[in-house]
Amino acid sequence: FARQVLRGLKVVVSAGPTYEDIDPVRFIGNRSSGRMGFAVAEAAAQAGAEVSLIAGPVSLPTPAGVAHRVDVRSAAQMQAAVLEAVGQAQIYIGAAAVGDYRPASVAEQKLKKQDGDGLTLKLTQNPDILVDLSAQTVRPFLVGFAAETHDVAAYAQDKLQRKGLDMIAANLVGGGLGFEAADNALSLYWPGGSIELPRAGKSELARQLIAHVAERYRAARP
Ligand code: PMT
Repeated sequence: FARQVLRGLKVVVSAGPTYEDIDPVRFIGNRSSGRMGFAVAEAAAQAGAEVSLIAGPVSLPTPAGVAHRVDVRSAAQMQAAVLEAVGQAQIYIGAAAVGDYRPASVAEQKLKKQDGDGLTLKLTQNPDILVDLSAQTVRPFLVGFAAETHDVAAYAQDKLQRKGLDMIAANLVGGGLGFEAADNALSLYWPGGSIELPRAGKSELARQLIAHVAERYRAARP
């Protein structure tokens, strides 16, 4: 960035999937590779921010310029790490694909195959990191992501409102975009506005996203 649009600000970025253990060898996870969130962390650092990156289980090196990295596995661990980091921060960007559910109990020993027809896993809802942050009286500027397979605009705008966010970056997943892919395309929504960021590499998109986050942040908190 020619202009250090986030200079002097602390930014927390979450990235990657969460893994919810079923037993010592199995888990429930998702396809997030962490690439989008890591690109956002790098772009925020390039824009002059002091960045804390909270990473789910991914195999990516820490991007250049990122000041702190905390590796976590489950949604509960991610929430604890985000809450600790965000206490000092002005901006939180949730690019992680956080599991909405976890097994109600984690078996201490490997589950054995039973005769019969199938296995039922009981799931419990995980905390929603963004919703909990938005309920705090002193809260950072909150940017969420929304990964949708259809009706992107409607679901994203609903999440913007329901989760009390300052901005949401929506992506259509599938067809070589979104999860795991090198490219993405984002639709940004904020209260009273929106913009389309067409298909591009995740690093380029992350830089464009950060420019809009900086602009909206300055408008909201002059
Ligand atoms: O990692 P990549 O392979 O590069 O893929 C990038 C991505 C597709 C994962 C990323 O661009 C993306 O869209 N991340 C959010 C995916 C997602 O889980 O969306 P959601 O609609 O389930 O969640 C909406 C928002 O709430 C997200 O900001 C999420 O971090 C947050 N959330 C969700 C659940 C939860 N328990 N706590 C949360 O904070």
